[in-house]
Amino acid sequence: MTQRKKVLLPALFKKALNGEPITWLTCYDYPTAYFQEQAEIDMILVGDSLGMTMLGYDSTLPVTMGDMIRHTQAVRRGAPTAFLVGDMPYMSYQASTEEAVRNAGRFMAEAFCDAIKLEGGAEMADRVRGIVDAGIPAIGHLGLTPQSVSSLGGFRLQGKGALQAKKIIDDAKALEKAGAFAILLELVPDRVCQLITERAENCLIMSLGSGPHAHGQLLIYHDMFGLYPKFTPKMAKVYGNAGEVILDGLKMYQLEVTSGEFPGKENYFGIKDSEYEELLDMLEE
Ligand code: KIV
Repeated sequence: MTQRKKVLLPALFKKALNGEPITWLTCYDYPTAYFQEQAEIDMILVGDSLGMTMLGYDSTLPVTMGDMIRHTQAVRRGAPTAFLVGDMPYMSYQASTEEAVRNAGRFMAEAFCDAIKLEGGAEMADRVRGIVDAGIPAIGHLGLTPQSVSSLGGFRLQGKGALQAKKIIDDAKALEKAGAFAILLELVPDRVCQLITERAENCLIMSLGSGPHAHGQLLIYHDMFGLYPKFTPKMAKVYGNAGEVILDGLKMYQLEVTSGEFPGKENYFGIKDSEYEELLDMLEE
């Protein structure tokens, strides 16, 4: 068991100040959270990407607050000291600030989160302000924002052109002004990410596929270990192919049961002869 103290906001800002990159991963279940806790990952995001990685949808759009709360609670049980971020699912904050505050509050009260994340730029600044004013730390998300994948034209690099890059930089400032303590930049060119990091005054800039010039890095856990069968994004680093290990094991189990090799003597338990005889007598009565 890790002896780590609970990761709180001052510890994250201290790391940034000391130039130590912050580690952040997605996680959706108890056993994975347990491992991430042992590895002393600083931050965990229960992303609405669970709609794709855990529930098998083609997008994040069908994910509900109920789905998010259930998975976030399990993650918190496995990772009691990580800085836990709940991802606001589609239509849990877009309609009004009041609804955004209420749903952000559910993450804190029902799943013991430390912060929430929501997608969008200047147009979401009032939601961020409302949530922060309610005492809830908020993280913005710019660049490739999966809930808007349809209007962004697919899962692709954002901010390639100067005009679009300028908009992302302006959006980052608007979110910081609204009180976001961190902003995730997903699939933004590295030098655009660097410009935003250099301009951030009191805001942690986190990179997902946006290069090294940020205060920390985020990766999708399923991409790191070959656990999402449909695709692995180009920018993801694969640290091991757990999917392959699992599939090999499943095929072996199928063969061994079919051939009678499983179960072996070590996989089951017997009953004493005397008890067995007594049982047979009872059945004959
Ligand atoms: O849902 C999620 O995992 C996310 C990441 C793609 C950043 O929002």
